[in-house]
Amino acid sequence: MAKHTVVSMPGDGIGNQVLPEAIRVLKAVGFDADYVHGDIGWEFWCKEGNALPDRTVALLTKHKLGLFGAITSKPKKEADAELDPALKGKGYVYYSPIVTMRQLFHLSISVRPCISFPGNSLNFIRKKVEGGYDEPYVNVVVFRQNTEGMYSGVEWTNPPELVMQALRSHPRFKSFAQTPGPDLAVSVRVITRKNAECIARAAFGYARQHGYKKVTICEKPNVLRETSGMMEEVAKQVAKDYPEIPLRSTNIDAQTMWLTKNPEDYGVIMASNLFGDVISDAFAGLVGGLGFAASGNIGPEVAVFEPTHGSAPKYAELNPPIVNPIAMILSAAMMLDHVGEVERAQHIRNAIAAVVKEGKVRSYDMMGISGGPNAIAKGAASTPQMTDAILAKIETASAKLV
Ligand code: NAI
Ligand code: MG
Repeated sequence: MAKHTVVSMPGDGIGNQVLPEAIRVLKAVGFDADYVHGDIGWEFWCKEGNALPDRTVALLTKHKLGLFGAITSKPKKEADAELDPALKGKGYVYYSPIVTMRQLFHLSISVRPCISFPGNSLNFIRKKVEGGYDEPYVNVVVFRQNTEGMYSGVEWTNPPELVMQALRSHPRFKSFAQTPGPDLAVSVRVITRKNAECIARAAFGYARQHGYKKVTICEKPNVLRETSGMMEEVAKQVAKDYPEIPLRSTNIDAQTMWLTKNPEDYGVIMASNLFGDVISDAFAGLVGGLGFAASGNIGPEVAVFEPTHGSAPKYAELNPPIVNPIAMILSAAMMLDHVGEVERAQHIRNAIAAVVKEGKVRSYDMMGISGGPNAIAKGAASTPQMTDAILAKIETASAKLV
């Protein structure tokens, strides 16, 4: 029996194109694992009224390790329309399976590395005042709280009377109190001390382990005094256990401006859910965008690794597929790090770095051209060709080691 069993959840659209590529790479570096398929996504909403079937939850509970491709989510009206007629009117409500999974398994830490590969033509460049350009090396790892904050899911349009009473008890609610219920939408930003501490410890622990010089907390405590205030207070407390790593503080709005000014000045960044989502996408844009953005969802028992991108339906039917598998493959490398297979993970990253630096085999996004059926004719590599190039580098490096 293999040492690990990985629940493979390709999901929808291009999730089915990229996940098998990651498994080819994991096999090539000799990761000792079995793979079991987990159903997830739109099809299961339509057929069963549940995009994350209980049997998939059971697989994750048992094996504790998952690779996830992407899912398709559609607006409420379409979700209701596409539900199997036999299930209609029975109270089924669509929930995003990945959000459900994060909450169900308390995957409260989201790790999102945004690290440039030298030679990537998509890397951010900056104009120098004296003329010419700089290409700053970006090496940022965002720790995003993954289960609460603005995405707690506690929200209403036309809040019930009990909620209205509570809201009216706050002096600041005066200016909204006359708004009719159906015209009033409220989302609750929940921060718990426990999970604030959890994300802060994860960020500082990572910084110490990997030699990052500082941790930056990216919030807005001057305005969101209670919620961002608690995040900051807890971060300062945790920082005391890491005296060699200074804690810096930035506001989310200013941070999105500074990140193109001096991205090389940031290392580990911690943030609550929405701000972490924003800032990790913003940094990912500096290092190649969605084709390169990997992530891990980490809980006390279960961990699931996924590219940041979605199911890209407009490319899902193309044959051969054209999307970049690197984000998915980097997510698989993060999974290896998580289970202590650090050398194999590094082997994968080195192979990707070599392919990117060489610049011979590039998916359409790496060429800066638009996607679609003509991409291949314009010289873009297909999804499997990208993986083949990475596998060739893995083999060359392995041969050198022998
Ligand atoms: P998306 O990430 O699926 O695609 C946006 C665009 O980014 C694509 O059209 C394509 O041009 C590019 N792109 C994405 N992945 C790429 C890759 N690997 N290589 C090269 N180019 C790539 O986001 P979109 O179009 O907003 O959403 C499509 C569906 O995906 C929606 O149903 C949405 O709800 C879902 N979604 C799911 C996510 C998840 O599973 N975690 C995350 C984001 C969106
Ligand atoms: Mg996002």
